[in-house]
Amino acid sequence: MSSTEAAVPRHATITIEGTNKSATLPLLSGTLGPQVADIRKLQAQAGIFTFDPGYGETASCESKITYIDGDEGVLLYRGYPIDQLAEKSTFLEVAYLLMYGDLPNNAEFETFNRGITMHTMLHEQIRRFWEGFRRDAHPMAVLCGVVGAMSAFYPDSIKINDAHEREVSAFRLIAKLPTITAWAYKYSIGQPFMYPRNDLSYAENFLYMMNSVPAEPYRKNPILERAMDRILILHADHEQNASTSTVRLAGSTGANPFACIAAGIAALWGPAHGGANEAVLKMLGEIGDKKNIPAFISEVKDKNSHTKLMGFGHRVYKNFDPRAKIMQQTCYEVLDELGIKNEPLLDLAMELEKIALDDEYFVSRKLYPNVDFYSGIILKAMGFPTTMFTPLFALARTTGWISQWMEMIEDPQQRIGRPRQLYTGAPKRDYVAIGGRE
Ligand code: ACO
Repeated sequence: MSSTEAAVPRHATITIEGTNKSATLPLLSGTLGPQVADIRKLQAQAGIFTFDPGYGETASCESKITYIDGDEGVLLYRGYPIDQLAEKSTFLEVAYLLMYGDLPNNAEFETFNRGITMHTMLHEQIRRFWEGFRRDAHPMAVLCGVVGAMSAFYPDSIKINDAHEREVSAFRLIAKLPTITAWAYKYSIGQPFMYPRNDLSYAENFLYMMNSVPAEPYRKNPILERAMDRILILHADHEQNASTSTVRLAGSTGANPFACIAAGIAALWGPAHGGANEAVLKMLGEIGDKKNIPAFISEVKDKNSHTKLMGFGHRVYKNFDPRAKIMQQTCYEVLDELGIKNEPLLDLAMELEKIALDDEYFVSRKLYPNVDFYSGIILKAMGFPTTMFTPLFALARTTGWISQWMEMIEDPQQRIGRPRQLYTGAPKRDYVAIGGRE
C-alpha cells in the first residue's frame, strides 16, 4: 500500500446509547462493491439485532455468480458484462457460465449441450397433468404445478448432498422448462403438444414447440431465434432478487430442487417482479393514445391512486437498467424483421419514456426503465400472448435459480434462512374463558 492510499477499514463499532454495551463488527470486502458489516455477532455482543423490511440493506449470502452496480447501471455474470454476453454468447453457453463459473471450451460445451438435450422430453405421465388444468389457467399456475410435481418423478433429487444428483436435477430443469412452458401455451389454445427437437438450438427448439403444428413444416427464422436467445440471456440471472432469494430460502431447509424452483416461479409471478412485463402491456393498452399520457403520469404521481408506471423503477438500479437498453435495440431488430413499420405500442412506450425521464418526480427518485419496459413489446410482436411473458421469464431465470441453489448447497456458511422480526403485537396476557370476555 502506498503512503497516499487510505487503509481499508476493517471494523465498524456500534455503541448502545446510555449503556456500556457495544459491538465490533468486521467489515467484509468482496471483489467489487461496497464493504459490508458482518452482524453475525451483533446480538451476542450488543443485545440488539437489525430491522430491514424488504432486506434492502442486507447481504443474505456470499455469491460469485452475478454482480450489479445499481448506480452505474452495470450487470456482470461471473464478471462478464451483460452487453458482451448478449451480443456474442448464446443462452446455453451463459447457462454453463452461471452454473460452473467460466465459459466452456469446445469439448466442455459439447458435453454440456448433450447433457441438456438428453433431458428435454417430459415423462409421459406428466403429460396427463394438463388434463387437470382448465384451458384458461394462467400458464404461471401450470408452471408452478408441473415443476413442483417433477419432484414426484425424480425421487433421487432429494439427495441434495450428492453433487451428481444436483447436476442431473439442474440439467432436467434447464432442459424441461421450455417443454413445460410451450405445452402450457399449446394447451391454452387447444393445439397438440409438440415434442422437443434436439437438433435445434435451445431458443429455436422453444420457438418450434411454441409455434409449430404437426400439419405444417416448421420454418426457421434466425433473427427471431437470435432475439429469443438474447431475451433468455438478459433474464438468466439477477443476483438476490425476490424469486432467487425465495429459491435460496426454500433450499436452505433442504427441500429438493424442483420444489425450490416451483417456489421461485411463484415469487416471480407478482407484478412487482416478473409479472411486470405483462403489466406493462396492459398499462400501454389502457393508456391507448399519446394524448392520454399526461393524465396517466398525473395519476402515477398521485400517492392515493396506487398506480405505478410499470416497467419503471428498480430496487437496485438507480440508473438505466443495462438490460433495458439491449432490449430496446432488440425491439427495433425484431419489428424490422417482421416488417412492422409503425407499432403504436412502441411509439406510445417511447413517448412515455421520454416524458417520464424529463419529469421531476421520476428524475428525483431515480426511476428509469427496467428490463420489462420493452420486453413485452418484442414478445407481442413475436406472437406471444401477454400471459406467456412471465413464463418466458421463468424459463430463462431457471438457469440462474438453479445455479444459485447449487452455490448455496456447496457453501459451508449456509444455514437455514430464518429472518427475525420486530414484534409489535399484544404483550403476554392470560387466556380468559369465552363467557368472561368483554
Ligand atoms: N412508478 C411510480 N412511482 C414509483 C415507481 C413506479 N414504477 N417505482 C417506484 N416509485 C416511487 C415510489 O412510490 C417511491 O416514492 P416515494 O419516495 O414518494 O414514496 C419511490 O419511487 C421509491 O420506490 P420504492 O417503492 O421504495 O422502491 P422499491 O425498491 O421498493 O420498488 C419496484 C422497486 C418494486 C421495482 C418499483 O419500482 C415498482 O413497483 N416498479 C414497477 C413494477 C416493475 O416494473 N417491476 C419490475 C422490476 S424489474 C424485475 O423484477 C424484472
